[in-house]
Amino acid sequence: MKLWSICLLLISGHSYGSGPASNSDAGQKLYEEKCSICHEKRDPKLHYQKTLKAQLQKYAPAIGINAKQKTLILNYMLPKAKDAKKNR
Ligand code: HEC
Repeated sequence: MKLWSICLLLISGHSYGSGPASNSDAGQKLYEEKCSICHEKRDPKLHYQKTLKAQLQKYAPAIGINAKQKTLILNYMLPKAKDAKKNR
């Protein structure tokens, strides 16, 4: 099985779970959809929080996300950043 189909399975598995998607699922979905339009989605682990925030601000107008969606994306990716604090 190809890698992308495994990814698809994982993603669809998420959305077919019971109840509404949690905020972190929503953030992940937005991140995966919106941040892969121009390039492969970047691994947050390889970038600093400052860079991720800056890129989000820079490209938010291009992908038409609102303030709430920005927050969801930040909440998803910042804790995974290279310099994320492990105990907060
Ligand atoms: C409109 C096209 C576009 C969209 C949408 C986009 N990017 Fe990018 N991204 C770029 C381009 C072009 C570059 C290389 C130039 C630069 O650094 O801005 C880049 C570079 C990056 C880098 C590397 C920056 C560095 O300094 O190493 C990161 C990280 C990144 N993007 C994250 C994101 C995230 C997170 C999102 C979703 C919020 C996103 N991108 C959405 C076009 C886009």
